[in-house]
Amino acid sequence: MVVFDAYGTLWNIQGIEEAVAAVLGRTRSASVLELWRKKQLEYAWLRTLMDRYEPFREVTRDALSYTLKVSGLQVTEEEQTHLLDAWNHPAPFPDASWLLPRLSSQQRIILSNGDAAMLEAGLRHSGLQNQLDGILSVDLAGRYKPHPAAYRLVLEQLGAAREDVVFVSSNGWDIAGASHFGFRTIWVNRGRGPIEELSVKPWKTVSSLSDIASIGEM
Ligand code: 2OP
Repeated sequence: MVVFDAYGTLWNIQGIEEAVAAVLGRTRSASVLELWRKKQLEYAWLRTLMDRYEPFREVTRDALSYTLKVSGLQVTEEEQTHLLDAWNHPAPFPDASWLLPRLSSQQRIILSNGDAAMLEAGLRHSGLQNQLDGILSVDLAGRYKPHPAAYRLVLEQLGAAREDVVFVSSNGWDIAGASHFGFRTIWVNRGRGPIEELSVKPWKTVSSLSDIASIGEM
């Protein structure tokens, strides 16, 4: 079974910058999106630490609200909703559309911090719905990755054995969490950066999803 992270791995978050640019202008869009994503992840992790789970759309809304305030930007409620909705319309990375049909002999699953509604909308929009065999939202665990309860969903919901799971993500923190949990991990190092210093190494490192097709023994 091959389990994929969604945002940043199969879906290109940079596409969301278009929506940000349409509302806030091109000069601010990259920095606003960068802070928005950073706060989105931070809030998800803090809520998990505090045991105060909220679905990812709410976390993403709060992160946007903070980002706009700290950046001194004001937008209407309608514009905020438009920005949030961009997370429901991600574009797939071309290498995701290329790879998934080539793995059709395996079960291909998404495990994401996104809530079920975001993931279903994202799947429809990205055109990958026929190339995946299931989606799992951490919503069912009430804890965000990299908490072990989030990865455990794969075993609990799909009846998989830990050693049969290959977990693929471009997010170093996600690779650390999944490796600690005991999955074989493939880090898609899209940014050509160093591995996170979290005491674990991925099983394999590739520079794009396409490289996974040539890994034989999965
Ligand atoms: C995910 O899709 C948020 O990238 C993270 O789980």
